Amino acid sequence: MRILSIETSCDETGVAIVEDGRRIIANVVASQTAHQVTGGIVPEVAAREHLRALDPIEQQALRDAGMELRQVDAIAATVGPGLIGALLVGANYGRGLALASSLPFVGVNHLEGHVYANWLYEDGAVGGPRGTTTGGLGPPRTPQTPEPELPAVVLVVSGAHSDLVLMEGHRRFRLLGRTIDDAAGEAFDKVARLLGLGFPGGPEIERAARGGDPKAYPLPKAWLADRYDFSFSGLKTAVLRLVRTLEAAGDVPVADVAASFQRAITEALAEKTARAAAEHGVRSVLLGGGVAANLPLREEIRRRIAVPLHVPPPRLCTDNGAMIGAAAFFSLRHRTTEIPSLVRSNMPLA
Ligand code: KG4
Ligand code: ZN
Repeated sequence: MRILSIETSCDETGVAIVEDGRRIIANVVASQTAHQVTGGIVPEVAAREHLRALDPIEQQALRDAGMELRQVDAIAATVGPGLIGALLVGANYGRGLALASSLPFVGVNHLEGHVYANWLYEDGAVGGPRGTTTGGLGPPRTPQTPEPELPAVVLVVSGAHSDLVLMEGHRRFRLLGRTIDDAAGEAFDKVARLLGLGFPGGPEIERAARGGDPKAYPLPKAWLADRYDFSFSGLKTAVLRLVRTLEAAGDVPVADVAASFQRAITEALAEKTARAAAEHGVRSVLLGGGVAANLPLREEIRRRIAVPLHVPPPRLCTDNGAMIGAAAFFSLRHRTTEIPSLVRSNMPLA
C-alpha cells in the first residue's frame, strides 16, 4: 500500500510517498527560513508559507517517486498537535486531494509520526545513497532491518513535546511522564538564543558544544524525584544567570556553556528513559522528535540500557512527511485505537 503523506504542523512543509509503512519512495521537506529573522516561529507566517510551498512540494514528491497520483492508495496528513493554522493548511490540502482523486483520507497524530519514524528505511530513489544512515548508530537501515520489538519505552522530544511513553503494542500508548514546563527542544532553542547562536538552536548547541568542556559549569538537572516528568525551566534560568555573570566578568566561553547545558539536559532525559525501560521490562527503547537527532543524547541513553536503542537518522527525527506516511499505514492496520480526523492543536499521544 502506497500512501502520500503531508506534514505541516509547525515550520516544516513535508510531502512523502511511503510503501507499507516502511519504505520511503520519496520524501521532500522544505524548512521555512522566514523564521530565522524573528528567531522563533510566527504562526501566521508558518501557515502562509505552507500554503505557498505545498503544491510544488507535492509535485516534487511525485516526480522523485516517478509516480502519478493515481498510483497512490491513500492520502494522509497530520491533524494535530501543532499550530492550528499550519495544521489546517496541510489537512485541508490532503482532504481536497483525497476527494478529487477518490482516495481515502487518513488523519495522523504528529507524535505517532515521530514514533513510527523508527520503522522507516530509504530505498535508493530519494536523495543520497541507498539505505538510511543511522547517524553513528550502526549500519544503514534496509528492508532486512528488523522492526523495533514491542513493548517499548519511547522518548518523544521535540520543540513542543517531551513525552516519555510506554508503547504496549501498535498504537497503544501509555503516558509515563512529560515536561511540566518547557519542552526539551524549546530549552535548546532558548539557550542558543541566549548564547547568540542561530535558530533552530539544537543543532547549533550540539555543534558549539563539540569544542567545549561539559564539566566546566555545574548546572541543576531538575530532578523531580520518583516521577517520570521533566522540568527544564530551572535549568534555563540557571544558564541565563550564568551567562549574565560571565558577561559581567568579560567574555562568555560559548563552547563550555553549551557543553555544560547539553550535558545537564541529556543526562536528565537519559536517566529517566533508562529507568522507565528497566522498570517496565521492555524489549526496546525508541527515540523520536527533533531533539533525538542529538548524538550525545543517543549515547547517554544507549550506555544506560540493556535492550536495543532505535533512533531514526537525524533527518527523519525532525519533522517530515515520511513519518506521517508510516504512522498512517499502521493506523489503517491497527484500527482498535481511534484514527483522529478533526484538526486539533492539542492532541495527546497516549
Ligand atoms: O520534531 P521537530 O522537528 O519539530 C517539532 O515537532 O517541534 O523538533 C524541532 C526541535 C527544535 O527545538 C530543535 O532545536 C530541536 O528539535 N533539535 C535538536 C537537534 N536538532 C533539532 N535539539 C538538539 N540537538 C539536535 N541535534
Ligand atoms: Zn515534530
